[in-house]
Amino acid sequence: VDLHVRLDGRRDLARQVYRQVRAAILDGRLRRGDRLPPTRELALRLGIARQTATVAYEWLAAEGLISGRRGAGSRVEGQALGRPARRAGAALQPRPVWDRLAAPEPRAAAPRYDFGVGAPDAGLFPFDAWRRLLGRQVRATLLDAAYGDPAGHPRLRAALARHVGLSRGVTAGPEDVVVTNGAQGAFDLVARVLVEPGATVVVEEPGYPPLRLLLRSCGARLRPVPVDGNGLSVEALPDEARLVFLTPAHQFPLGVPLSHTRRVALLDWARRRQAVLVEDDYDSEFRFGGRPLETLHALDRDGRVVYVSTFSKSLLPALRLGFLVAPPPLRRALRAAAFAAGWHAQGPAQVALLALIESGLLARHLRRARRVYAARHQAILDALRTDFGRWLSPLPSLTGLHLAARLRLGGPAFEREVAEQARRRGVGFDRLSAYYEGAPQAGLVLGYGALPDERVAEGLRRLRASFTAAVRVR
Ligand SMILES: Cc1ncc(COP(=O)(O)O)c(C=O)c1O
Repeated sequence: VDLHVRLDGRRDLARQVYRQVRAAILDGRLRRGDRLPPTRELALRLGIARQTATVAYEWLAAEGLISGRRGAGSRVEGQALGRPARRAGAALQPRPVWDRLAAPEPRAAAPRYDFGVGAPDAGLFPFDAWRRLLGRQVRATLLDAAYGDPAGHPRLRAALARHVGLSRGVTAGPEDVVVTNGAQGAFDLVARVLVEPGATVVVEEPGYPPLRLLLRSCGARLRPVPVDGNGLSVEALPDEARLVFLTPAHQFPLGVPLSHTRRVALLDWARRRQAVLVEDDYDSEFRFGGRPLETLHALDRDGRVVYVSTFSKSLLPALRLGFLVAPPPLRRALRAAAFAAGWHAQGPAQVALLALIESGLLARHLRRARRVYAARHQAILDALRTDFGRWLSPLPSLTGLHLAARLRLGGPAFEREVAEQARRRGVGFDRLSAYYEGAPQAGLVLGYGALPDERVAEGLRRLRASFTAAVRVR
């Protein structure tokens, strides 16, 4: 290992080296088995005589802290006693806004019957193809240039523009596209470019918590606007808002689409208010029937919509790949914001995604995944309507990887009891009330991305048992 040793003056050099190596072993920075630099190398690096380094090593060996065999190199033998003391840093304070904001803790372990929202089925991911494409591209991409374009790899941007043009009717050229670290990365760029501290920003109620956290961290004043059976209530938009984030294809988490009438009204409102609409199209690759509504972006005649898409559902969230399509006046600032935020998304992953799209493998993967998710969607919807009819009223949804259902009776306390009973039975789901800022509605949000087919029926059976048990407790 490379060991940092700091020498003061020219006196007692062997003792200084000895003390610092000893401290590193005892506080655990050096672990048993780590190989120490050979005395010749250490002496050269520190500008001391080799004999000085040898003496220091001999003292350490005499205490049994390192092995002392000449020629074989010295290894650490001693055990740590504790962690290095840290300075408390009481004088350091994050900005006050961070007192109320926290990232989610990693889950200890996923429940066996996991209806949690968010994750797709990792088993469907085309691992072999991805590994092959990544392997082929990684060397060329990494050696290509020191840094890539902040807006993303030019050929990938062209491929994405074609891809959304075909699949979502979003008309765009490569120059309109910015490749991002998932949808969250796209929201971050939009916020950097458009949110003044103190500005009113509209989000949906209920809505997507990571977006709210991001906007608050930028100093936005959030105005959650209610969602009903037709999507965001356009008539409830506050006059002072100039920026609206919404999920028109599949409202998160309720699942309802924004009606055509509302889309037209929203675009009209945006034109009158000179506002920007951010269309989060996070899971519309998976449609299981009905006629798709046009995206806001496709209906927009005025350049008011920033379209955001992600590969977190269609491929995997850990890839952190997404993109946005922006109107020309925002392009230059968004590209600069991408540079500020982290320069660009990871190079090799961008090129592997490009190859996945160009080879037709992405389209093939999506067709296969759509079939799998369609079957799970139907199985859960059927169960909600029949076996859970007494307790739940499911919301209409023909898209995506989750379904929401409101509790027919009982509020958040009953919802919490069902969740607790479910937890005891190895079943996890998201509580609808958790997605509200204000007065919450109680219900369940059931994801079926991460739940393998063979566990769906048993998971639903256990969920029903959880309701029965929760009713008894009540
Ligand atoms: C409403 C919504 N937007 C966006 C995303 C995707 O986020 P990302 O691409 O940052 O993983 C999700 C994922 O769960 C989501 O639910």
